[in-house]
Amino acid sequence: MRTRPWLFEEYPELEGRAPWTSLGDFPTPLHRLEGLCRSEGICEVWIKRDDRSSSHYGGNKVRKLEFTLADAKRRGKRYVLTFGGLGSNHCLATTVHSHRLGLKSILVLHPQPITPHVRRNLLLDVKFGAEVHLARNPLERALTVAWIKLTRRGVYTLPLGGSSPLGVLGFVDAGLELARQVESGELPEPREIYLALGTGGTLAGLLVGLRLAGLNSRLIGVRVTPERIGNARKVADLANRVINFLRSKSDSVPDLRFYPSDLEVVHYFYGPGYGAPTPEAVEARELLLETDGVELDLTYTAKAFAALLARARSGAEGPLLFWNTFNSVDLTPHLQGISEDDLPPRVREFLRREVGPSL
Ligand SMILES: Cc1ncc(COP(=O)(O)O)c(C=O)c1O
Repeated sequence: MRTRPWLFEEYPELEGRAPWTSLGDFPTPLHRLEGLCRSEGICEVWIKRDDRSSSHYGGNKVRKLEFTLADAKRRGKRYVLTFGGLGSNHCLATTVHSHRLGLKSILVLHPQPITPHVRRNLLLDVKFGAEVHLARNPLERALTVAWIKLTRRGVYTLPLGGSSPLGVLGFVDAGLELARQVESGELPEPREIYLALGTGGTLAGLLVGLRLAGLNSRLIGVRVTPERIGNARKVADLANRVINFLRSKSDSVPDLRFYPSDLEVVHYFYGPGYGAPTPEAVEARELLLETDGVELDLTYTAKAFAALLARARSGAEGPLLFWNTFNSVDLTPHLQGISEDDLPPRVREFLRREVGPSL
């Protein structure tokens, strides 16, 4: 179990210069998808279980929050303001882990298709102490944020997806972690790594981390957000900002440059919109649950796994690695004693009027 980031081991000058606090259980496990092999004859697929990154609430956000929430604490902040769709996993992860550190989250949320998953995440946000605001358009969002900043002292702002350069360090660290697992023989060096592309922080961090570690795996980002939010240029720019940040803290970090061609973005599996289930994602989710007992979500990970499946079925050469960025900790017990009546009136009203897919 790691007690400090691999990044600090690799570049000791970073320790003390980059804020960090332990929130998760790393390294996350890896294994081959044996059930998929038996049932589909697709045998060169491994899974990285970031869904188990914390027993409080896992998924990809924990790695980012180890750096950003440490920064908020170090700066003496009391509130963490962040953004996402109504059922945002990033917002829930921020809320759960902020709560552990004695910080209160303030969420400014935009509409998305209302599924049971969305309703559940909203209730959990409130259960873990979040203050929830609905912003239906950019103007409402700007006014809400201005009001929050005017009326509170000590607000730390996290961008969409938690993908600030500091947050992205969590996935630079994940790249180093994977390299260690390859080195120790837990898996062969993946030829391709598949993961959901939301705001791009996860991909940008892995891009930097894999390059620092000398791995040649090709990163495949499966776009699940509108192209203006998730695209290869943004990922490369973010990776360059992260390298600049690291080099400002340690001379021994090499001067790397990243370009959009350093990763591949797959657009097809996005479907009709953010959070809108697609037939491919529904099939991928059912299949992985049945073959290997791994649960995916329809907004991010099922779309990413659908892309991997399509490639594998068309004969792509392995080893392929699926990076599971979803949380698998069951928070159902925390839903006891809470209902939609506990949501702020505007949010409650919105949920009542919206009838979304029942998946
Ligand atoms: C389950 C899951 N996977 C992937 C992502 C995308 O990560 P990123 O925004 O770093 O691209 C998110 C973001 O919220 C997520 O919740």
